[in-house]
Order: sequence, then C-alpha cells, then structure tokens
Amino acid sequence: MFAATILTLYPEMFPGPLGISLAGRALAEGRWSIEPVQIRDYATDRHRSVDDTPAGGGAGMVMRADVLARAVDAALDRRPDVPLLAMTPRGRPLSQERVRTLAAGPGVTILCGRFEGIDERLFEGRAIEQVSVGDYVLSGGEMAAMVVLDACIRLLPGVMGAASSGDDESFETGLLEYPQYTRPVEWEGRTIPEVLRSGDHAAVNAWRHARAEADTRSRRPDLWERHGGARIHPPSGARHEKKDR
Ligand code: ADE
Repeated sequence: MFAATILTLYPEMFPGPLGISLAGRALAEGRWSIEPVQIRDYATDRHRSVDDTPAGGGAGMVMRADVLARAVDAALDRRPDVPLLAMTPRGRPLSQERVRTLAAGPGVTILCGRFEGIDERLFEGRAIEQVSVGDYVLSGGEMAAMVVLDACIRLLPGVMGAASSGDDESFETGLLEYPQYTRPVEWEGRTIPEVLRSGDHAAVNAWRHARAEADTRSRRPDLWERHGGARIHPPSGARHEKKDR
C-alpha cells in the first residue's frame, strides 16, 4: 500500500479533494493511506512557534530549521524507507517520470512549506528532495503536495479502470496527448474528424500520432526539443507552419 505522510501546519486540509472521486475511492479501498502530521507539535517553546523573521530583513516569516528537523526526523524514524520531499517553488520541477517512480514505491513523506520559505540549513542538514509543481507561487506547499499525491495515486494498481494503463497520455510518450472527440458527431457545425469514424485502427493511430507531434511542436516547443523532434524534422518551413486542423 502507498503510504503518504504529510508534514503541514494545516493537517485539516487533507485528504481534502483526494477524498473524492478516483483518489477517494482508492483511499476507501485501502489502496493508499494518508497521515497528516501537525508540524507545530514539534515546537518546544510555550508559544509553539514554527517561524521567525527572515535573517537580513525583508517581508514575511521563515520556517525554523530546528522545529522542521524534529518533525522530519520523527517521520524518518517512522518511515525510513520512503522518499522525503519538500514542496517549494525553488525545487526541481515535478515530472511524469518522477511521479511514475514514486508511485512504484512504498509511499512518500512530504514537507509542506508556508510563509516566505524554509530556513536553508534544513536542506543542508537533511537529505530532502525539493520539488516544485510549476513556475508560479502558491500560498503554501499543501496544494502542491496534493498535486504530487494525485498524480501518484491514479497510477497505483487497481485505481484507474480499464481505460487505464494511460500509455498514450500526455508526457508518457514525451509528447502531448492527441485531441479527443465524442458524440454528437456534429456540434455547432463542427464534425468529428472523418478518420476517427472510419473504423480503420491503423489510420486512427497514424492520425493520433501525427496530431500528438504537431500539437507538441506548436504548443510545447520545449517538450518537442527534448523529444528529439527537431532531429526527426530538421528546421525548415515545415517547422513553422501552423497545423491547427
Ligand atoms: N509552494 C509554493 N509554491 C509552490 C510551487 N510552485 N511548487 C511547490 N511548492 C510550492
């Protein structure tokens, strides 16, 4: 079973949306578990303080290394076998590859930051993988932790239905997924591409692959470059033409 431990100042935020729908059903079925831990329980002063003003001045508050280290060490004692992550916009961007590896393991411990950040000495003193969910700033790491968990949970055995292995979907192939259509066949004068109604599976697959490539190239040149698309289709007029069929 995939066991998540969440170190947070807001344990009541969990499971939150992960208690509903696909993840919620999987939680009820015992396919994963979640243990939110109140970081404040590791404070030692009578105000139970977890933060203080930033050294060098500036706005906001910084989470204390000593308090966080006690929370982290207790979690490591309980679950020495699981990866320890901290959610921060300064972290390495989350990838589908990292998600796949995490989901294949025994679980994860996630430290959620709040305020202006975490005392850097925590990351010097403990082996913690810093992870970002994107180049924007959330009000805390909790939503980001939910993103990590949601992405992992849907990959756990038995969680996704038959539609599942998800081999075609965005990023699993290094490309964006091809566009989808469903009934009605005509909507506001627009029809479903003919090939998808042809019953010719080889033609459908070829069309989907071509659209996945064209859409990745136009929407996500960064992904396309990494995919090696530029090598397969050398720079030419073809690279710049808009193929929004
Ligand atoms: N905390 C605040 N913003 C974040 C982000 N983009 N990713 C991960 N954790 C965060």
